[in-house]
Amino acid sequence: MLETLNPQPQDKILQLIAMFRDDPRSDKIDLGVGVYKDATGLTPVMRAVKAAEKKLWEVEKTKTYTGLAGEPAYNAAMIRMILGSGFADRAASVATPGGTGAIRQALELIKLASPTATVWLSNPTWPNHPSIIKYLGMKMAEYRYFDAESRGIDFAGLMEDLARVQQGDAVLLHGCCHNPTGANLTADQWAQVTDLLLTRGAIPFVDLAYQGFGDGLEEDAAATRMIAAKFPEVLIAASCSKNFGIYRERTGILIALGDATRKPITQGNLNFLNRQNYSFPPDHGARLVTMILEDDTLRTDWKAELEEVRLNMLTLRQSLADELRRATKSDRFDFVATHRGMFSRLGLTEAQVNTLRDQHGIYMVGDSRINIAGLNAKTVPILAAAIAQLT
Ligand code: LMR
Repeated sequence: MLETLNPQPQDKILQLIAMFRDDPRSDKIDLGVGVYKDATGLTPVMRAVKAAEKKLWEVEKTKTYTGLAGEPAYNAAMIRMILGSGFADRAASVATPGGTGAIRQALELIKLASPTATVWLSNPTWPNHPSIIKYLGMKMAEYRYFDAESRGIDFAGLMEDLARVQQGDAVLLHGCCHNPTGANLTADQWAQVTDLLLTRGAIPFVDLAYQGFGDGLEEDAAATRMIAAKFPEVLIAASCSKNFGIYRERTGILIALGDATRKPITQGNLNFLNRQNYSFPPDHGARLVTMILEDDTLRTDWKAELEEVRLNMLTLRQSLADELRRATKSDRFDFVATHRGMFSRLGLTEAQVNTLRDQHGIYMVGDSRINIAGLNAKTVPILAAAIAQLT
């Protein structure tokens, strides 16, 4: 049987992790995978997470199975963090293994409810989105998103493409901090996009993996909240990997908003999907998140540290934009300072990306996406000088 298997295409982001690890150069710079790093290159365990883990060790009495949908307190706390109040009656939800688990379950739910629906993705998007959709054999379409010239949004192209969405199609939207570009819709553009999608009868499917990494915890949820208030049905896949720094604990949630009278059936279907795919979702990370969100002291400290992380990335953005201005004697990289979240797509060619890797030991994804948090005060001028040499 196994001899019939064919090699699978490599995930570009994961491939980069291996290449970086195997590079013997001591001055190599990792701007690849989307993981936050402090100035020393460490992805730290957040203070509140450490404190919650210590407390959990003391008070946890059992490791018996959790609920099939996760612990109700986790789901309730996450729904509050993402949507604020007023949505609990309409929200069915399941805890999932990370944000990827939530995306996978959301796609399976769409497939179960509406097997012929098309899922619309921004061009570009996180490479695992199309990969999972293809694996599930679902229909997929693209809408224009990024303007390669300005490195901002191609808003006219986006609106033109989304005007072709059919009734019942799902449209995947990055709730904040677009991955891989770093270019985000303004509040006014969000309003126009959602008005258009409403007239098309689309189901918004929000991927919210970076809440708190862009403009702030509340600000980054604004678009998702507006969508939740406007549409009768919405899917939201959220991750705690980045904002709680608990990547390996695999902590995510899928929220399905719909008619309150249909909530028990939607919930039953979400539970069914969890049971089919992995039974009970992981609990450790979810429990830490619940403890942090429910405790005033832990929550305050977590928010403060998340804000430090966000501001650190903003400072790095500004200093990279300044250095690039100096090094290239032009303003063509000013967009780096206005992008938000972990990433910016620089607009370099694949050959230029390869040159940066081969000659300077600077690793970024092939589409020239950089992880801003991979930089520090020492490496910002090194990157800027290397880019200036190319251009
Ligand atoms: C990324 O885009 O780098 C992250 O979301 C990590 C991943 O799983 O790809």
